[in-house]
Amino acid sequence: MRIVCIGGGPAGLYFGLLMKKENPAHHVTVVERNKPYDTFGWGVVFSDATMENMRAWDIETAQAIESAFNHWDDIEVLIKGRRMRTTGHGFVGIGRKKLLNILQARCEELGVELVFEQEVDSDLEFPDADLIIASDGINSKIRNRYEKEFKPDVVVRPNRYIWLGTKKPYDAFTFDFRRTEHGWFQAHIYKFDEETSTFIVETTEDVFKAHGLDEADEARSIAFCEGLFSEVLDGASLMSNSRHLRGSAWLNFNRLICGKWSHFNGRSHVVLMGDAVHTAHFAIGSGTKLAFEDAIELTRQFRKLGSTRDKIPEVLAAYEEVRAVDVARIQNAARNAMEWFEVVGSRYADTLEPEQFMYSLLTRSQRISHENLRVRDKKWLEDYERWFAARAGINIDPDGPPVPPMFTPYRVRGLSLQNRIVMSPMAMYSAKDGVPNDFHLVHFGSRALGGAGLIFGEMTCVSPDARITPGCLGLWNDEQTAAWKRIVEFVHATTSAKIGLQLGHAGRKGSTRVAWEGIDQPLDSGNWPLMSASALAYTPNSQVPRAMARADMERVKADFVATTRRAIDSGFDMLELHCAHGYLLSSFLSPLTNQRTDEYGGSHENNARYPLEVFRAVREVWPADKPISVRLSCHDWTEGGNTPVDAAIYAKMFKDAGADLIDCSSGQVSKAEKPVYGRLFQTPFSDKLRNEIGIATVAVGAISEADHANSIIAAGRADLCAIARPHLADSAWTLHEAAKIGLKSIAWPKQYLSGKLQYETNLARAAAAPSPA
Ligand SMILES: Cc1cc2nc3c(=O)[nH]c(=O)nc-3n(C[C@H](O)[C@H](O)[C@H](O)COP(=O)(O)OP(=O)(O)OC[C@H]3O[C@@H](n4cnc5c(N)ncnc54)[C@H](O)[C@@H]3O)c2cc1C
Ligand SMILES: Cc1cc2nc3c(=O)[nH]c(=O)nc-3n(C[C@H](O)[C@H](O)[C@H](O)COP(=O)(O)O)c2cc1C
Repeated sequence: MRIVCIGGGPAGLYFGLLMKKENPAHHVTVVERNKPYDTFGWGVVFSDATMENMRAWDIETAQAIESAFNHWDDIEVLIKGRRMRTTGHGFVGIGRKKLLNILQARCEELGVELVFEQEVDSDLEFPDADLIIASDGINSKIRNRYEKEFKPDVVVRPNRYIWLGTKKPYDAFTFDFRRTEHGWFQAHIYKFDEETSTFIVETTEDVFKAHGLDEADEARSIAFCEGLFSEVLDGASLMSNSRHLRGSAWLNFNRLICGKWSHFNGRSHVVLMGDAVHTAHFAIGSGTKLAFEDAIELTRQFRKLGSTRDKIPEVLAAYEEVRAVDVARIQNAARNAMEWFEVVGSRYADTLEPEQFMYSLLTRSQRISHENLRVRDKKWLEDYERWFAARAGINIDPDGPPVPPMFTPYRVRGLSLQNRIVMSPMAMYSAKDGVPNDFHLVHFGSRALGGAGLIFGEMTCVSPDARITPGCLGLWNDEQTAAWKRIVEFVHATTSAKIGLQLGHAGRKGSTRVAWEGIDQPLDSGNWPLMSASALAYTPNSQVPRAMARADMERVKADFVATTRRAIDSGFDMLELHCAHGYLLSSFLSPLTNQRTDEYGGSHENNARYPLEVFRAVREVWPADKPISVRLSCHDWTEGGNTPVDAAIYAKMFKDAGADLIDCSSGQVSKAEKPVYGRLFQTPFSDKLRNEIGIATVAVGAISEADHANSIIAAGRADLCAIARPHLADSAWTLHEAAKIGLKSIAWPKQYLSGKLQYETNLARAAAAPSPA
């Protein structure tokens, strides 16, 4: 085959050499507009996994790169006059020039033709080529020429950054955060050869402009950065080598992905590779890795399917199919880290103490967890656990084992919880006429014995017509009050857990069957009339609710207040107002379900008017020393619905009205929703609300291990973690998770003590046993 790679960056050079190595009969040319050794940028970093892959494909290149690597283990963070360090993080870095030199030399050795100082304007300049690789970087002319075919999707990210270098070798990956009179700047600094380090400076657009950097030339920008980061530079100067850039040396990161990766131009097959087809933010430093892995995958497909011209369409289709999935995965991981740096100033640097700020930084991608940090740097993590526990009011024994963050106590108003774990509200559909029965006593009782600091009753309805199903619990009469009281008294007398009640009204989602007989389906008979913010049915099968009139609002508000008084009589420790999941109060908050034109719809203020009215009425009668949380759907996951930005606005309104915590759930407002599920998928909403609005939060959703809960609490992404489904599988979830992470000090019910010892011993034995061959 005749192969031409347009662009001699990592993608083009590496693919060229791999294909030439596969079959020396291929004619491979790499065309590059720059001179050899003339490149932009400074150093790049890699992981061990990338190197392993490269070793398998061309050991010579891998060894040359490895011998030029600089390794380092430490991360150092400078903020607010503090300098903090942790170790065990294992990075390798190499200068971009050095890397390209290695690739160029290997290309020459294998017989790849390298053409320098040739600007390519079009793929049609190579009519004899069977295969053209568009490896011409982020601003790919070739991709732009076939925009309709490749369908590039570019998102310009809001931050500004400048990629500089310095002749000061740092012995740690260094992050320096500096506040000016206008806002925060951060520097990402890492050494890549004996005397040079990469020095990327980043800030938000408004801070960039406030300093006039949009009008600054390169020299002024460099002088500005030297002044701002003088402490960490310690007399060293900054250098640029961005001659190739037109206009400002300050860039915005462009997140790119293409709808299609290849195209037949009538003579040759053209395929995109590397930055030309996708980008990954430098916050996780994986752009070069992706370029190499593209080259490897395309080579692998030629090896597998045949490297002749007639096989090219099949090979290119397979290449795209495999790589598109991998790239999406990396881009997802990069997104968390990138977004962290986009909001770091106001969300974390201004609000968190330096110790917690550093923890948040280290876990920014949500891929490195609490226990990962323990493996990397046990001492640092244990010191941090002690720091966190002291903040939570625990007397620290400097020689004793530290208390993991999820097991620290939490106090809100007059309520003291022994740990940060909450059993999330979960409807059991097992009541008759709304009355709690023996099932509920056993269900709540056993979970209260299971170690959670707080257990929540399921959504408990304020009137018979407020129920979702005939099996839902209620609290509108004396029989229910007495039955709840029995449960609350059991919890208080027998366990150290506290118990809260979630107050709700089903709204348009009411009058349906119990979950196992057809969720959201109307009853076969005995349906009751529904109401909601607007007269919109939930599903095509659902009853159409009436839009609430003012008289309805008065009646329902009075029901919430009456139930609150009964909750006081039953002895509950805390209330939660259910304003999520499309139920009555939630239906006011979402524009998807609220189409009112009166003062109860049309703006955030109007949408929140009735839910706030109910909240205030409840707060007024609920004892001042007992807290109330509000559950919100922080994302409707549907076009035109609420997003976390709206949730933050509502959270602030509830905070101002006296809410103590926001329980950050999402979805179930519209049947058209497309949630993006995954581990801890709703935690970013809690993080945003807690640290932007300054209100305590509960994180919930796919939190299933102590490691998850510890990471969330330690990083300040939430104050409490609510665990739902794992509590259905294991009523003693908290006690078992404590044992799994080796925490012996947690108290088990005295009746169960011999079980504790055996459980811990069995876990220790299993951990010590040799793994099966
Ligand atoms: C601030 C910053 C920090 C980064 N840090 C890291 C990191 O730590 N680790 C990491 O892995 N990645 C990092 N990256 C990303 C990394 O640089 C790229 O992802 C990687 O270089 C992609 O390789 P490529 O071959 O696809 O494209 P490029 O490296 O951009 O190569 C494209 C080549 O094509 C040439 N070219 C373009 N147009 C033409 C034309 N018309 N004719 C001829 N030649 C042409 C260019 O001169 C260039 O040599 C960083 C990027 C930035 C911006
Ligand atoms: C069976 C079941 C019933 C639920 N009922 C309620 C409820 O009554 N009120 C509520 O706010 N959320 C309810 N939820 C949602 C949970 O509280 C929780 O937000 C969700 O399950 C995600 O947490 P998880 O991943 O730990 O299960 C219910 C969830 C389940 C599985």
